[in-house]
Amino acid sequence: MNTIYLDNGATSFPKPPAVAQAMLQYMTEVGASINRGVYGSAQAAGMTTLLLREGLCRLFHHSDPTHCVLTPGNTAGLNMVLRGFLKSGDHCLVSSMEHNAVMRPLTDLTAQGVTFDRIPCDRTGHLDPADIPALIRPNTRLVVMAHGSNVSGAVQDAMAVGAICHERGIPFVLDAAQTAGHWPIDFEAMHLSALSVPGHKGLMGPSGIGALLLSADFAKALTPIITGGTGSASDSEVQPAYMPDKFESGTPNLPGIYGFQAAVDFILETGVEAMEERERQLTGYFLDGLRDIKGIRLAGPEGLENRVGVISVDFADVDNAEASYRLEQDYGILTRCGLHCAPSAHKTLGTFPQGTVRFSVGHYTTEAEIDAAVKAIAEIAQG
Ligand code: ALA
Repeated sequence: MNTIYLDNGATSFPKPPAVAQAMLQYMTEVGASINRGVYGSAQAAGMTTLLLREGLCRLFHHSDPTHCVLTPGNTAGLNMVLRGFLKSGDHCLVSSMEHNAVMRPLTDLTAQGVTFDRIPCDRTGHLDPADIPALIRPNTRLVVMAHGSNVSGAVQDAMAVGAICHERGIPFVLDAAQTAGHWPIDFEAMHLSALSVPGHKGLMGPSGIGALLLSADFAKALTPIITGGTGSASDSEVQPAYMPDKFESGTPNLPGIYGFQAAVDFILETGVEAMEERERQLTGYFLDGLRDIKGIRLAGPEGLENRVGVISVDFADVDNAEASYRLEQDYGILTRCGLHCAPSAHKTLGTFPQGTVRFSVGHYTTEAEIDAAVKAIAEIAQG
């Protein structure tokens, strides 16, 4: 039985062939670190790293590659922001659709006197930016928001939220785990102070690497949570204040950088708009297929507006974990079931504690695969 991969929300698969080729090339032909040697291969690795920062800046409309920090992943990037910025007495606003990558560090920080409130979202997972001004307090220091939900696929109006934050001088942080590579993101037009992205989801690179793009002001205000060797200012035992070294201690993930750079090149060549359009067609096709199936509830937007291709289904008469298991065992369809590290999102959608079975399409998903998934869902829902 061939497998059908519909778990691109967890990690994209397959990757563009150039990603593995670039990683292999690094491992077999380059092998050097950056900022630590002046020989040719070290310079080449430094150049690839710079090309990656520049590519990410082009993709997200950011003007300064020195403020594109490479991270070990999106969770690390979000921790760097939350733990490096919020202090006792500070208040933070998040949406009620957040992933635990935001909620767990934020909950940890409450022990240090940080407080937070959730901007309510509707039963599809969308917030109304008009609700935000009333939730802002004199001590609100940060607004953090998942751009796209990893449970319902709902995409928030980051442009409107950014305008509200900008007007009030509150830094706005976007967690683009489910939108980077799937949805156009404009750092400047959205008035972002920080944008955190994983390399391995919609950007189609390897896991274990991501990026944190920072505005100049926010980078100055942010304290690094990890310090150490940067290969620069080696006469000093004080962490450099300049970018990106301030936030990049330790030997970086160079195979990851090579793979990520090839992936970003692929995205830039293909175009995010074209990728979004393709995924929109696939998502619409999937949603149409689900419409007449009895015995399931769609936990998310029924239409294509403001959503990505993350489709959560709650089976009425079959345990969701069993449905996911049968999808693999009987049909070879790979999904993710449960609470998706986002209990707050499931509470918002009315799918807590049972969770959902999540189908997430990607760049390489085909209509035939969606036909097979729809048929399987209908058969399983009938019991
Ligand atoms: N956050 C990722 C997911 O939703 C891992 O599957």
